Amino acid sequence: MKKIFIASDHGGFNLKKNILKYFNKNYLIKDLGPKQNKKSVDYPDFAHKLCKQVAKNKNHVGILVCGSGVGMSIAANKNKGIRAALCYSVKNAKLSRLHNDANVITLGERLIKKTVALKCVESFLKTEFEGGRHIKRIKKI
Ligand code: RB5
Repeated sequence: MKKIFIASDHGGFNLKKNILKYFNKNYLIKDLGPKQNKKSVDYPDFAHKLCKQVAKNKNHVGILVCGSGVGMSIAANKNKGIRAALCYSVKNAKLSRLHNDANVITLGERLIKKTVALKCVESFLKTEFEGGRHIKRIKKI
């Protein structure tokens, strides 16, 4: 069964909460923390925590949010089996699924409008991997 996980650091906490609120009706998304935004936390801790869950099953996907999306992306991509895509447009999010079979989307709360971020997540969750010529490329990663 497909499972969706989400996590952030303090810089991505508010966007994470907005994503959970917006997709609450149609998706079951497991929040891996942090639970509160009272103190600074280290984004790699949450990236690795989420990637551990996503890597368990090829149908699992993850959403990681930090201030820029960059730190989460770098940390996530250090995990075996993870293809994390830093997304800043709907097209970018869609292509990350179609061509790269991305299993994690990363977003930067400080650099993207909330409405665009929500559309990116929607596109990421709805788009299927195209397969075909992209399979051999992914295997080379
Ligand atoms: C935290 O201030 C910030 O560095 C972090 O959220 C992220 O942008 C790192 O890439």
